[in-house]
Amino acid sequence: MITVRPAKPRDAAAWLQLRHALWPEDSAAEHREGIDRFFAGAAREPLAVLLAEDGAGCPVGLVELSIRAYADGCSSDRVAYVEGWFVVPQARGHGVGRALIAAAEEWGRSQGCRELASDAEPDNAVSAAAHRALGFSEVGLVRCFRKEL
Ligand SMILES: CC(C)(COP(=O)(O)OP(=O)(O)OC[C@H]1O[C@@H](n2cnc3c(N)ncnc32)[C@H](O)[C@@H]1OP(=O)(O)O)[C@@H](O)C(=O)NCCC(=O)NCCS
Repeated sequence: MITVRPAKPRDAAAWLQLRHALWPEDSAAEHREGIDRFFAGAAREPLAVLLAEDGAGCPVGLVELSIRAYADGCSSDRVAYVEGWFVVPQARGHGVGRALIAAAEEWGRSQGCRELASDAEPDNAVSAAAHRALGFSEVGLVRCFRKEL
């Protein structure tokens, strides 16, 4: 039995653990800062964080969401966006990711969005397969550049 619900301040430690597992390149302190900003209402992104809990109330996954004015392949200027999507390895393959995306869709509709967009690293074949299985269509592959100013 999987429940998906918005993260609350008491979930900060669990959210930190899931976030750090998804983005290990950022330090725990950096993740904690982002989480504190979110609960203080001062974060530009994410706008919403949904946690998946198993039958024992244990957090097993998350989806972090924002609204972007532009997303590749989208035609609207208010696109619900999956900024982060993660399920703990031992819970994968049992519909937790699907439940998180269904809740993300619901959230997007509640925000007046008509499109849900997402991205994945080019070599993340599992993510690509999961996106496709959940009804996303692949709209492109981009290279990112940066220059110091
Ligand atoms: C991507 C991820 C969130 C999917 O979570 P999950 O709980 O395993 O997903 P589900 O069990 O709900 O599966 C959803 C669909 O994806 C497909 N899928 C999931 N894992 C798959 C795999 N290893 N290979 C192929 N398809 C897969 C399933 O077929 C399923 O469709 P179905 O319900 O029609 O069978 C999870 O693998 C994960 O956390 N990966 C590491 C982090 C990551 O890559 N996140 C995405 C970055 S954008």
